[in-house]
Amino acid sequence: MKEQSIIEGLSSAVAADWKDDPTYYDNADSWVSVFWNEDTIFRKLFSRLDVARIVDLACGRGRHSWQMRDWGNEKILVDVVKENIDICRDRFNGIANVRFINNNGYDLADIENDSCTSLFCYDAMVHFDHMVIFRYLIEINRILQVGGRALIHHSNNGTNPGGVYRQNPHWRNFMPQGLFFDYAIKSGFKVKEQAAINWGEHNCIDMITLVEKI
Ligand SMILES: C[S@@+](CC[C@H](N)C(=O)[O-])C[C@H]1O[C@@H](n2cnc3c(N)ncnc32)[C@H](O)[C@@H]1O
Repeated sequence: MKEQSIIEGLSSAVAADWKDDPTYYDNADSWVSVFWNEDTIFRKLFSRLDVARIVDLACGRGRHSWQMRDWGNEKILVDVVKENIDICRDRFNGIANVRFINNNGYDLADIENDSCTSLFCYDAMVHFDHMVIFRYLIEINRILQVGGRALIHHSNNGTNPGGVYRQNPHWRNFMPQGLFFDYAIKSGFKVKEQAAINWGEHNCIDMITLVEKI
């Protein structure tokens, strides 16, 4: 089907950009506080998730789930890049209740229906094409329990539709706030909260959205 090959092409283009980027991966752990400091919007909204069985979507090398290493919850780390999942396996060696999934870049087929309490995605979906995001939202809705929540950091870039995302500031893909809101509703969520955030010198270039499965 043509739609399927479009989605596969869009998701594999972004995946290729993140296969190996030493400038990013070697340093990413050193600025994890941008997300995890107590006073950040990310942390405040994260604290509204039931983390009992949580998915870290596009986990990279696991720096966010690592913050939860002592929490005793069940963690499912998902990433399209196999090398990242292999590194996560080594990193979490000896830590109980961690599952690793190297997915196809647009679905969560290895995760059962209604089986998770929450999902989060930081510093990754900002780059995804909106068609891929719509696919993921449908999948996220499928795997969450009713009342389960997802916290998604995504782009708020309304410029360059149809363009190449790498040409945009900070590689933010086309995803105006209202489009994400619309996709969330159509995927079976209610939007609990949406906040615009700055990235580098760009004001309100990103959004963080908390959704709940209804
Ligand atoms: C900038 S890194 C961020 C990783 C992690 N979230 C973090 O904050 O450290 C982007 C991640 O998204 C992953 N990725 C890219 N496209 C993806 C897709 N379609 N589905 C799942 N993961 C994807 C990449 O492999 C990479 O690990």
